[in-house]
Amino acid sequence: MNIGIIGAGAIGRKHAAAAGQSGANVRWVVDVDLAQAQELAKEHGAEAADSADALWADRATSAVIVAVPNKWHADVAIAALDAGKDVLLEKPMACTVAECQAINQAALANGRVLQVGFVHRFTAVGRLAKSLADEGRCGRIYHARAQLSLRRGVPGLGKWFTTKEISGGGALIDVGVHLIDLALHVMDYPQLSDVCGQTYATFGCRMKEYDYDSMWSGPPDYEGVFNVEDAAHALVRFRNGSTLQLDVAWAGNFPQPSTPVSSMVFLGDRGGMSFELFGDHVNLAAEQEGKIVDQRIDAAEPDFYQDQLRVFLDGVTTRSNSGATGVQGEIVQSIVEQIYQGAMIPA
Ligand SMILES: NC(=O)c1ccc[n+]([C@@H]2O[C@H](COP(=O)([O-])OP(=O)(O)OC[C@H]3O[C@@H](n4cnc5c(N)ncnc54)[C@H](O)[C@@H]3O)[C@@H](O)[C@H]2O)c1
Repeated sequence: MNIGIIGAGAIGRKHAAAAGQSGANVRWVVDVDLAQAQELAKEHGAEAADSADALWADRATSAVIVAVPNKWHADVAIAALDAGKDVLLEKPMACTVAECQAINQAALANGRVLQVGFVHRFTAVGRLAKSLADEGRCGRIYHARAQLSLRRGVPGLGKWFTTKEISGGGALIDVGVHLIDLALHVMDYPQLSDVCGQTYATFGCRMKEYDYDSMWSGPPDYEGVFNVEDAAHALVRFRNGSTLQLDVAWAGNFPQPSTPVSSMVFLGDRGGMSFELFGDHVNLAAEQEGKIVDQRIDAAEPDFYQDQLRVFLDGVTTRSNSGATGVQGEIVQSIVEQIYQGAMIPA
């Protein structure tokens, strides 16, 4: 199958690599920065362009991956859907709920497959946790705790990731959406009741002294903009009485090793499970004859970008979607939006 990649940045490159290994042919690489498009296109024997017009017109390419900064997700995805392309759209689905709704309407109106890039569903532990929950190993899950605590992990400091006008927000809309989707996916997307949360912007006002551990999309621009939150904490309640506690930070003064970098915990009335986001096993506690029995279940590590793409390509062929849907992307976005709207502005 021929595919087009729109956005030849850090994640566009990962998708291009995954495509080669998933039996897809990268036929187009589009980036507003033509040199960037050409560099990636050359590696894959693809056409490069700085506009998607020729890709929209190419009937031999029926599917695209949208991997541009968040601000342009809605415009690019809607243009692709209106051009009759099936779309794998990077997370977050968009910057606002209204944009998500417009994307979903375009997918529906054009009868296209739309999958959102919540790739943590496809990690070894993500897949295993979902199957254990579906097997009923926890019983009824009534609480989930999702946490990512980076000490100095702000991505693209000073550039678009930290510029609200382009990113739509900070740690919450960037990595928080992965945690929210994974938790809800394992819990079968219970209906939302209400959300209470707070966001924090501790490092933006002193970004010049920010000494980083890691930098996605680096190097940093210390003269640039940092006007988004670097952390968010929230409690999400669902109509069935279950809850999700969310703790996400790009940066924070977490003591280590006592604070794990990441953890997902699910508590059910018959058992519980926990794992690290990129771990290789799930810890399961199950009630057996009145006692709690602990078990470590190893997970075979798949390549999650490849797996995500395979599910998308299968969906394109079978006209279905067994990955994250646009409706789920919109629900995740509505949780994010409610946290932003409800957050107190510090006095
Ligand atoms: N799934 C994940 O875990 C994951 C990880 C990182 C990034 N992402 C998402 O992927 C998207 C891209 O992130 P990135 O880290 O690759 O950013 P990046 O800055 O490295 O790359 C973005 C590229 O898009 C290009 N671009 C900008 N506007 C464009 C437009 N209108 N049309 C075509 N190209 C355009 C830029 O020139 C740049 O080359 C973001 O939405 C981000 O949230 C997802």
